[in-house]
Amino acid sequence: MEDKISRNEFLKSLGFKGASLLAIYCGASTLTSCINEAGDPSGNVGLDFTLDLTDPANSKLNSVGNYLIVNKVVIARVSADQFAAVTQICSHENKSKVIYQGTGFYCTEHGAKYTIEGVGLNSEGKKGIKAYNTQLTGTTLRIFA
Ligand code: FES
Repeated sequence: MEDKISRNEFLKSLGFKGASLLAIYCGASTLTSCINEAGDPSGNVGLDFTLDLTDPANSKLNSVGNYLIVNKVVIARVSADQFAAVTQICSHENKSKVIYQGTGFYCTEHGAKYTIEGVGLNSEGKKGIKAYNTQLTGTTLRIFA
């Protein structure tokens, strides 16, 4: 005879419940999704992707001062050889309204301002904003946490 119990029932029988049960399920899923479930407001912990700058869809990034929003990340061409990237989600009231404006990042909702490194420059932006690393290799731009 075969006794079948669910994974949940098995874990409960060992005394796991609530948060510890969630932690075990996280361990079985991908690290990224687990961390995101832990409450990162940007939802972008573990973020890592590349953009092909020869692709017309990414052509804005070939001109200094322009920006592109991909995967809720605002990516800006700051200078001939420098990029900057921050989450699109403003730390003031979590609106997805951050853009790049000339010398830094700006939220169009209430005016929060951030440096290209994500440091807050006014009262709305005082919490700063999550910034990501950028790395250009040839014509491939990598954006990563
Ligand atoms: S939500 Fe961005 S400034 Fe208020």
